[in-house]
Amino acid sequence: MRYTRIAGTGSYLPEHVVTNADIEKLVDTSNEWIIERTGIHSRHKVAPGERSSDMALIAAERAIEAAGIDRHSLQLILVATSTPDMILPNCACLVQERLGVAGMPAFDLVAACAGFIYGLSVADQFIRSGMYDNVLLIGTEALTSITDWTDRETCVLFGDGAGAVVLQASDQPGILSTHLHADGRYKDLLRASSPLPTQADPEDPPYVRMAGREVFKFAVGALGDVVDEALAHNDLDYSDIDWLVPHQANSRIISALAKKLDLPMERVIMTIAEQGNTSAASVPLALDIAVRDGRIQRGERLLLEAIGGGFCWGSALIVY
Ligand code: ACO
Repeated sequence: MRYTRIAGTGSYLPEHVVTNADIEKLVDTSNEWIIERTGIHSRHKVAPGERSSDMALIAAERAIEAAGIDRHSLQLILVATSTPDMILPNCACLVQERLGVAGMPAFDLVAACAGFIYGLSVADQFIRSGMYDNVLLIGTEALTSITDWTDRETCVLFGDGAGAVVLQASDQPGILSTHLHADGRYKDLLRASSPLPTQADPEDPPYVRMAGREVFKFAVGALGDVVDEALAHNDLDYSDIDWLVPHQANSRIISALAKKLDLPMERVIMTIAEQGNTSAASVPLALDIAVRDGRIQRGERLLLEAIGGGFCWGSALIVY
């Protein structure tokens, strides 16, 4: 049987850190409120001129090195992002050019915070079908660039960063299944308006706007369901999961899910305290950190999940 295996991981965080104390100076909020309601202590922010493709490139180079492959053997580059450097070319082409590996297809995927899970599923289809053996998948976001720093309901949440994986064909189990969903009826609960000059609305600049309470409620239900769907599909139980690698939107959403899975928090990879919500980058960032610090070991079962604007959401069950 042909599987998609994670051959290597990499990540990057911008140098500059924004603490809750820094945000207290911008809006009417407090360190205590932010920690209690979100679990976030600080987040990283791109330097002036630093873009999603810059972060993606570094994460990608680290993943390629970890996989131990020649970058010229890549056959597809996928970038999950809602904050590309420009409208066109896509971010994947910008990364490809700087990796110096012209020729293979390169495209972006937009599914907000679920972008990396969507990307895993797309890459898995290309690999399982036999079309490609080596795929580079990156989640990268410069979310602080579309953050309204006068809106206390969103500016405390978001951070920047990138995570990447090299995915390879293998006869050993890797991605067991992916499960994707979307429901556009919720499009107004989490959105950033058009950046196109002729469609720009001065009353509604392209900053992230979110109805936090409603998103929270939907996220807890949808993530619970999509996790059950992944386990049922593979005839597995909660006790078969070694690690939960969740999207880092809110520590309370993550704890609720861990409780449902009967997983102690020591088996949940948490990065939200130091990174905030990095949207499509959050799952691969968490994955890379836990692989590099030795918590996640080969052969262990990982459950990845994410939800974001759209709503788009999904899960992936993986043998690492
Ligand atoms: N500081 C202090 N008070 C605040 C702040 C703040 N930064 N933000 C909101 N408040 C106030 C509100 O005004 C409200 O006051 P009121 O009771 O007087 O009306 C009170 O705090 C409670 O507000 P809630 O919105 O009910 O707070 P909640 O506990 O829901 O936390 C949060 C808000 C953190 C946004 C939470 O709802 C959340 O995490 N939502 C989900 C986020 C998510 O999953 N997003 C998905 C992915 S994001 C993406 O796709 C880019």
